[in-house]
Amino acid sequence: MKVLITGGAGFVGSHVVEELLRRGHQVTSLDDMSNGNEEFINAVSDHPNHTFIHDTVLNDELVDELVDNHDCVFHLAAVLGVKNCVENPRKVIDGNIIGTRNIAASCMKWNKKLVFSSTSEVYGKNPNIPFSEDADRVLGATTVHRWSYATAKAIDEHLCLAYGKEGLRVTVLRYFNIYGPRSVATPYAGVIPRFIDAALSHETLRVFGNGLQTRCFTYVYDCVEATIAALSAAADGEVINIGTTEETAIKQLAETVLRLSNSTSSIEYVPYEEAYGPGYEDTPKRVPVTTKLQTILHHTPRVSLIDGLKETIAWHEQQQRNA
Ligand SMILES: NC(=O)c1ccc[n+]([C@@H]2O[C@H](COP(=O)([O-])OP(=O)(O)OC[C@H]3O[C@@H](n4cnc5c(N)ncnc54)[C@H](O)[C@@H]3O)[C@@H](O)[C@H]2O)c1
Repeated sequence: MKVLITGGAGFVGSHVVEELLRRGHQVTSLDDMSNGNEEFINAVSDHPNHTFIHDTVLNDELVDELVDNHDCVFHLAAVLGVKNCVENPRKVIDGNIIGTRNIAASCMKWNKKLVFSSTSEVYGKNPNIPFSEDADRVLGATTVHRWSYATAKAIDEHLCLAYGKEGLRVTVLRYFNIYGPRSVATPYAGVIPRFIDAALSHETLRVFGNGLQTRCFTYVYDCVEATIAALSAAADGEVINIGTTEETAIKQLAETVLRLSNSTSSIEYVPYEEAYGPGYEDTPKRVPVTTKLQTILHHTPRVSLIDGLKETIAWHEQQQRNA
């Protein structure tokens, strides 16, 4: 099958590319390299079934031509990260909404299956845990830029489902805190690469808030398997949570990273206001209901946090040796 993937030079996207190639598909990656990594593309650059295009999903003519020439699309390109939301909310809104509109409109026009990567952020601060896919979204005020990403992704979902109502074969996936090799410690990255980088460099691990907030950290290979499984017709028109139900407090995560990496670093608790500015709101817990993941995508996350962290730490150690 000819598969188009946007964001293919990114963390999750590059793993999806490799797995699709391993399964024998012909893959085109489209990435503007705003947060992509050349190393990840170089890993598959010699593969005869892979083509890389350095361009943007905001280029609607190119998107239309590419979608026409492929059998299906995985749309992962996005501007993400809590720090990005706070510092560049307009970039987050434009990048996510216009890009997805281009992709979804072309998939509709050419009758191609679309798998869209959304986020558990759309549930916002809904206190009713765990989240089933039809749970309410509870977001803060528009003056709190932190909610720009959740709002843009929710609009994207609405758009995908609206096209779905008109006949588009589309599946929306809500990822819950994906981590693993290739998740690098940029200022916009998630907490796991930041903690590992600090631990390996024997620098202080900075926990924002009191560290009692929990997340369900999901290993990237589980995410990739579930993402590819979403091509199935059974998933058409569905919104599906992709995540483990194993809850981990950020404080406990920091301690586990220190132990597994034999680090002498200490842990510092940083108030949210200091990390993200005044008025920042965090979500205390985020746990998925995984019934649809299991019954529609036939996937149960397999990799435990400890095993996944060991693999991820080993990858970061290798990166440091190569640097
Ligand atoms: N990693 C997570 O924990 C997580 C959680 C929830 C949802 N997601 C979603 O999964 C997808 C992949 O996330 P990731 O963690 O791999 O992030 P990432 O930043 O590593 O990957 C996104 C890629 O998209 C590219 N990109 C951004 N804007 C683009 C544009 N206009 N045109 C083309 N390419 C563009 C970036 O260069 C990057 O390579 C995103 O849609 C994200 O919203 C990720």
